[in-house]
Amino acid sequence: MNPIRRSLWRLCGCILVCSLFAGCRPALPPPTPLNQLNAQQRRGYQDFQIYCAQCHDDRDSDSLHGPPLLGVFKQPYFPSGAPANDERLRMTLQEGHGLMPAININSEQTQDLLAYLHTL
Ligand code: HEC
Repeated sequence: MNPIRRSLWRLCGCILVCSLFAGCRPALPPPTPLNQLNAQQRRGYQDFQIYCAQCHDDRDSDSLHGPPLLGVFKQPYFPSGAPANDERLRMTLQEGHGLMPAININSEQTQDLLAYLHTL
């Protein structure tokens, strides 16, 4: 095989391997075990059960009414493509988002909830 052809084949191989990897979601570090949560994170976990759990899974990756929130802050973007940060999450709760209604919780509960979501 002439050298130009060989390097073209190598290039194709590289592209193939890279696209295979890009297709898989990188494995995220697992959520903090529940028995290792601090007091604030535990309050956030309880708020999650009350205000979010009917529509979102927190500790596994199944979709309920909404997308799973497992690893929500370990990835750069929310499912909508919005940047995954506290500010954006507060906005999502205050204003709702698409099919998600606004969630009426106070700022202290929101802080607790954020602390918990960061452990996922
Ligand atoms: C009544 C069901 C429901 C409840 C309750 C609910 N959500 Fe959602 N949520 C949804 C749906 C549906 C979506 C997808 C919205 C869309 O893309 O149209 C969503 C999307 C989201 C997103 C992704 C936003 C984005 O930009 O992609 C986040 C983050 C989120 N919810 C957090 C929460 C949190 C935290 C709570 C609890 C305080 C909560 N949700 C309560 C239904 C709900």
